[in-house]
Amino acid sequence: MNILDKFNLNDHVSVVTGAARGLGKAMAEALVQAGSNLVIADIDYEEATKTAKKLMKESGKEVLVVGTDVTKEDSVNNMVDNVVGHFGKIDVLINNAGIVINEKAEEMSIENWYKVIDINLNGVFIVSKAIGKVMIRQKGGSIINVSSMSGIIVNTPQCQSSYNASKAGVIMLTKSLAMEWAKHNVRVNAIAPGYMKTELTKKFFENSGEMVDMWMNSTPMGRPGLPEELGGIALYLASDASSFATGSVFTIDGGYTAL
Ligand SMILES: NC(=O)c1ccc[n+]([C@@H]2O[C@H](COP(=O)([O-])OP(=O)(O)OC[C@H]3O[C@@H](n4cnc5c(N)ncnc54)[C@H](O)[C@@H]3O)[C@@H](O)[C@H]2O)c1
Repeated sequence: MNILDKFNLNDHVSVVTGAARGLGKAMAEALVQAGSNLVIADIDYEEATKTAKKLMKESGKEVLVVGTDVTKEDSVNNMVDNVVGHFGKIDVLINNAGIVINEKAEEMSIENWYKVIDINLNGVFIVSKAIGKVMIRQKGGSIINVSSMSGIIVNTPQCQSSYNASKAGVIMLTKSLAMEWAKHNVRVNAIAPGYMKTELTKKFFENSGEMVDMWMNSTPMGRPGLPEELGGIALYLASDASSFATGSVFTIDGGYTAL
């Protein structure tokens, strides 16, 4: 088979959580461009609907929006039932929904701690469990968890212990699920992006100043990543091009963690 054919996602069904905007939207765009049908599972139904219209128009592929809260098992199970009812299968899952709260550990409320862990880590488990069952039944699938370089290194100078802990948890969950599900031909990998310019980080880049200078001085490429620069790794991991990759963490960070 020609190597380029291995990247083809024609007739695939991909679910991307938090794909209404930002990195999820950019990765979803790469998948539909490669031929996949798409499900946007996002808590922001209105924004998700706008994104779906755009991606459908651009690609001619079917894009379904299912309002979903990844922290609620009922909501996730309902989304999965809808998707399987409509498309009959799920080939690819990108667990991308996530938030950050920058607070000093000694001042952080327990509610905020739970909120970050709930969306960033528990959400990945809840969605993986529901879609993992479908993939096990199908005897195949690819799950891509969006961790962060913050799961490997501690960012400075901002305080974000809950975020860092959640993203480190996602890496270990990725390896654990990869181990459990390899025999079912379900691959599970993680992407660990560095500083990317999205809604999540926009406020920092807009204010620029000393903090952004520190970040960029620690990034050998000297610039933040753009959302579309995750398209290649998302497509690689979603497709047969990565058929022997599982339990791995792919840093895409302009060299930050190589320093
Ligand atoms: N932006 C960066 O620099 C960066 C770097 C490394 C990792 N990441 C990770 O990438 C992912 C996407 O980040 P982004 O910058 O695109 O963020 P973003 O804030 O632009 O988008 C996050 C999306 O997740 C959705 N969402 C939030 N809570 C949800 C919930 N409970 N259920 C379903 N959807 C929910 C939001 O509605 C939004 O569409 C996150 O997991 C983030 O931690 C981002």
